[in-house]
Amino acid sequence: MGFIEDISTATGMIRNADAVTLVSHIDADGITSEAITAQAISRLGIPVTPVFVRQLEPLTMRHVPNDDTLKIFTDLGAGQQNLMEEAGLPADNVLILDHHINQPAPGGTQYSQVNSQFYGPEYAKCSAAGVAYLVARKLDPANADLAELAVVGNVGDMMARETCGLVGIARWIADDGVESGRVRITKGLNCYGLSTRPLHLCLANSDDPILPGISGDPKAAADLLIRLGIYEKPSDQRVWEDLHADEAKLLASVVAEQMIANGESTERLFAELYFFPHETEKSPLRNASEYATMLNACGRWAKPKIGEAVCFGDRGQQYREAEHMLRHHRSIIRELCEYILDTGVTDAGSMQWIHTGDAYPDTIVGIGAGMALSKLDTTKPIMVLCNVADEPDLVKISMRTYEKVLRCGVDLQAALAVAAAEFNGAGGGHNIAAGAYIPKGCEDDFIRRVNELIAGQFAAGAPHR
Ligand code: C5P
Ligand code: C5P
Ligand code: C5P
Repeated sequence: MGFIEDISTATGMIRNADAVTLVSHIDADGITSEAITAQAISRLGIPVTPVFVRQLEPLTMRHVPNDDTLKIFTDLGAGQQNLMEEAGLPADNVLILDHHINQPAPGGTQYSQVNSQFYGPEYAKCSAAGVAYLVARKLDPANADLAELAVVGNVGDMMARETCGLVGIARWIADDGVESGRVRITKGLNCYGLSTRPLHLCLANSDDPILPGISGDPKAAADLLIRLGIYEKPSDQRVWEDLHADEAKLLASVVAEQMIANGESTERLFAELYFFPHETEKSPLRNASEYATMLNACGRWAKPKIGEAVCFGDRGQQYREAEHMLRHHRSIIRELCEYILDTGVTDAGSMQWIHTGDAYPDTIVGIGAGMALSKLDTTKPIMVLCNVADEPDLVKISMRTYEKVLRCGVDLQAALAVAAAEFNGAGGGHNIAAGAYIPKGCEDDFIRRVNELIAGQFAAGAPHR
């Protein structure tokens, strides 16, 4: 079916529901998808009960009641229809709003789904929050006030990374936010922390692209800012968002010149940025990428409801707790990243891997893997294995790679789905970022098998999907 049909099936199911159970993922895209969908449904006067899960697995399926409520799955479900079928969830009682690779139910149950992977390239780079927004907007155009949450979800799931800005339908959603006055789109430096980080730290932290003479060297960054008259002293705290247009322009042109002088491409130096002008200046809610990190900090540390409250507009007690979660999350991710780099990864041939044991929760190792990879061999995917705190018989797998590796034929979702199934585990996700749970004890064989599958993908060359 096409997008129009799928979306009208979805809105029809929602309108006919007496009550909804909304099952969502705990990351930024999951929390924003949930917040959009929950608000759109409540506005229709239909009661909604949220359930956040780390992942749909046999154990977490217990949190999904098999009752008369309409079950809506956001940012998960497309890859776990087998579990819904096993749990006996009837097709007319389930709606999936997702962007993960579809893995149909083996028994043939046809669950209704709006999945951005179904409708061609215009939709391909749209996360679950984008899908949820399109459904919400179809339910009522007044839901356009939720566009900023969709932008946060899209940016949080890296939909803007490769293209240095949102594209296709996700960009259309950002424009919708501009129209309602809640989103400001601008061009600027492709750095993280433009609203909250003192500019020299923001520049020194840049690793994609590497800024010659600046990345990794806050003092050199501060010296440059003093030379340009943007800082008065090295301890200045101005952020990028504080700059006047002529200062931003001057900084951009000097950094660009430095890159050109070093023979580096300036292609990734600038990106489209998404700001929320109604939020407090210098707060992490001012731009989409920092807002997304705050939600990840809540969700991935088992407090998704705090993130949800922030999306619903809480700027009091729950927001202060979210700020605390963000500080903690950042310091642990930084530590994890250093741990991976200091310990070193093992080169398996076609991928590199590290086992972090009990040191870090399974919900964050993927983020650390993604960040550490930028400082490792970026031509090979990275796999992090770790123990799962409350499930001693399981091992969590997270994999990350780069778009240029996908172009060599690599597909992490395919490799993990196949290998995990062979070892009685379950895996899924995206070609560029995927995960799995496998039984403890088979790690070495699993690593060998995934390496072999990825070697095969490299050998086959062109993308097979
Ligand atoms: O799909 P799921 O939302 O659960 O994946 C979240 C993780 O995958 C995030 O860490 C995000 O950075 C990463 N991801 C990515 N590129 C994509 C999709 C997800 O790096 N295209
Ligand atoms: O720079 P810092 O070590 O504080 O960054 C850690 C946190 O910031 C992580 O949670 C990471 O998700 C987020 N971050 C990001 N993108 C970047 C840099 C940091 O999302 N480019
Ligand atoms: O946990 P992590 O961030 O590494 O997950 C990366 C991607 O893999 C996410 O999209 C997540 O939803 C997916 N995943 C999955 N099945 C699992 C674990 C993760 O589909 N068992």
